[in-house]
Amino acid sequence: MPGSDPADGDFVDTIALAALEAGAQHSVYVGMRRVLLCRVDTDVFAFRDACPHALQPLKGGAITGTTIRCPKHGACFDMKTGMPQNGITKASLELYAVRIRDGIVQVDAGPDKRPNPYQQFGG
Ligand code: FES
Repeated sequence: MPGSDPADGDFVDTIALAALEAGAQHSVYVGMRRVLLCRVDTDVFAFRDACPHALQPLKGGAITGTTIRCPKHGACFDMKTGMPQNGITKASLELYAVRIRDGIVQVDAGPDKRPNPYQQFGG
């Protein structure tokens, strides 16, 4: 749930930090967004689990330092900045803010401006 304190922004609970060991990746949904959580040492990075090259999942991509390599065509991105690292795409990762509260990884993916597909059809 987004916090009731305005300073909380749109942070929502995802998984326990203990469930995300160093070097691990975990896909979660934040609202309607699929978000990939990656832990590198003590840092946790969160970004849209869709490669900006051709929107394929980044989950399972090899991680070297803070760089993740897309398993589909090999685009590499710095998870700290989102910036592409090789020439496969010039587009960046969609990064989200992360914080740890009471042992829970919380992610602020911001407001989702995409329409709810179920509302479009009255469902
Ligand atoms: S979809 Fe990731 S490099 Fe093409």
